[in-house]
Amino acid sequence: MNYEPSYTQMLKGKKILLGITGSIAAYKAILLVRLLVKQGAEVKVILTPAAKSFVSPLVLSTLSGNKVLVDLFDEDTWANHVMLGRWADVMVIAPLSCNTLAKMANGQCDNLLLATYLSATCPVVVSPAMDEDMWLHASTKRNIELLQQYGNKIIPVEKGELASGLIGEGRMAEPETIITFLEENIFRGTELSGKKVLVTAGPTYEPIDPVRFIGNRSTGKMGFALAEVLYARGADVHIVSGPVHVKTGYGGIKVTSVETAQEMYDACIAAFENTDIAVLSAAVADYKAAVVADEKIKKHSDELQVPLVKTKDILKSLGAIKKPGQLLVGFALETNNERENALKKLESKNADMIILNSLRDANAGFGYDTNKITVFSSNGAVTETGLASKHEIAGEIVNIIIHSLHG
Ligand code: CTP
Repeated sequence: MNYEPSYTQMLKGKKILLGITGSIAAYKAILLVRLLVKQGAEVKVILTPAAKSFVSPLVLSTLSGNKVLVDLFDEDTWANHVMLGRWADVMVIAPLSCNTLAKMANGQCDNLLLATYLSATCPVVVSPAMDEDMWLHASTKRNIELLQQYGNKIIPVEKGELASGLIGEGRMAEPETIITFLEENIFRGTELSGKKVLVTAGPTYEPIDPVRFIGNRSTGKMGFALAEVLYARGADVHIVSGPVHVKTGYGGIKVTSVETAQEMYDACIAAFENTDIAVLSAAVADYKAAVVADEKIKKHSDELQVPLVKTKDILKSLGAIKKPGQLLVGFALETNNERENALKKLESKNADMIILNSLRDANAGFGYDTNKITVFSSNGAVTETGLASKHEIAGEIVNIIIHSLHG
């Protein structure tokens, strides 16, 4: 498993109470604890007595750094389930067995996990795990519906190989899926709630013939990082992306994939009317072939001239139709006269902000994981960052955007 800490930082410092029940899938809960701790969360674990047969409390207490709780009474001490439920920002029960599901649905309380569930004032998220036949049983469906009525959130089961050896529905979600679910459903910020954001990312490919194109080395990393941070702060995000390998793990982000500058232009024009903030980070080709050959161009002559014509400037076009209240953010990638060129772009494209990337800065720009930028705002403000990871830079850009919305 290769899972980097999420740069959106949504789980950092969050208090997670993880309940583990008696199911074969309990082994995945060990990985889940590890990932949560890696994300900067504080984790406390409660096991049902049955779960002890599947996972060792020692492993879980070592990984979480906290004592693992199982019993309501521990010799002469009483586990304070009420305070556990109040301590947590979220209670996650993963895996949730059929038996504990039934008890939760009916308000039964014969172990510490159930007592804590019944007294929890924080949101509760469950990740069921069982064989397909149990999952499809009418009583299970009714119990899941009851939990939903109580306001609990259910992480969908996955299809695949089950403990019985059969293939079907009922597998517990993977730990990464649970992390993403918590980020998207519990821990998104609200600073940009209700704001519709359009982000362009990646390069464009301009065809010359059926097999060749003019492109550039943009990876889309910066655009996707910005989009995810904007989403983490509560915005409704739509990425229009050229051909890239990067993907977003957040299902709530809309992605429209395009190839050419014209396609990116069409997608942006269609979306812009309904957009509050547009962040144009794509490296759009400035020129395209005047005529695209129908057949592959053969190497008949020693020299080949391909006449090029300008593509549409998306940033400038959006600047021309921008309405009051819409915020338009562009990028400038410069090798010389950086400041002057960036300020020129700010004005000529009617943008509210230009983010300058200088290729003269070592370890910044295309292909690097780090970047360094200067932000020029139409109100005259200039903000410079140090060299930082693209994700940290994305956070700083979003801070500047949020700041500018407030005045
Ligand atoms: N951009 C755009 N559409 C284009 C070209 C650029 O939307 N056809 C946007 C980019 O996404 C970026 C900004 O314009 O936000 C600046 O792009 P850049 O290529 O640096 O500027 P150009 O206007 O193309 O000027 P030049 O290449 O001469 O520096």
